[in-house]
Amino acid sequence: MFKGVLFDLDGVIADTSTLHFDAWKKLVNNYFSAKLPDSLEEKTKGVSRGDSLKVILNYLDVSVSDTMFQRLLVEKNQTYLASLENLSIKDRLPGITEFITELKQHEIKLALASASLNGPAILDKLELRDAFEAIADPSKVPYGKPAPDIFIAAAKALELNPRDCVGIEDSSAGITAINHSGAYSVAVGTHPELKAANMLLASTAELNLDTIRQAYPHN
Ligand code: G6P
Ligand code: MG
Repeated sequence: MFKGVLFDLDGVIADTSTLHFDAWKKLVNNYFSAKLPDSLEEKTKGVSRGDSLKVILNYLDVSVSDTMFQRLLVEKNQTYLASLENLSIKDRLPGITEFITELKQHEIKLALASASLNGPAILDKLELRDAFEAIADPSKVPYGKPAPDIFIAAAKALELNPRDCVGIEDSSAGITAINHSGAYSVAVGTHPELKAANMLLASTAELNLDTIRQAYPHN
């Protein structure tokens, strides 16, 4: 049986995933009078703020000065934070409350392995901070997802080997990261690129201990 669960945040615990992309779309509209196609959303999911901006600038085929790059990051985050103003317990994704309760009952440890620098503040708004034994700091790992660093750091913060952990993700970058960390990957969502996961669930509502325990290979 696994001893820890390493959670992604946006799109797994919180209904915030589209808010990130909405903020990028607004920024791009304001600064470049351009529209981002929905297909770009998957390429920014799980990807750090700076790396997401690089993906977007690359799509737009524009280059900006370092000062402008930083200004765009600040402004995107301001728009994103404004959209979180009313975030509360109601924005936990379906099944998350029950799944976390189940994990706690079985004394399985929880760590956050999100690329978001806003992770701790969002857990506070969702009233979930106390449920987590550890929050891996994305600013302290050398490489962001799809590199495995944040999942390795999250397992380490729980004093566990990644092999003894399950990682949960809604992004393809995140599934690649979990797979390379050595943890057992569970994807939630329907995007075709999630097929690389060890276990694929259509939504967070399907997360439950028994389903994962039965498939987990190191029992
Ligand atoms: C998550 C989201 C990404 C976002 C990243 C950084 O991984 O899926 O869309 O770019 O966090 O979030 P932040 O809140 O630090 O800008
Ligand atoms: Mg996510």
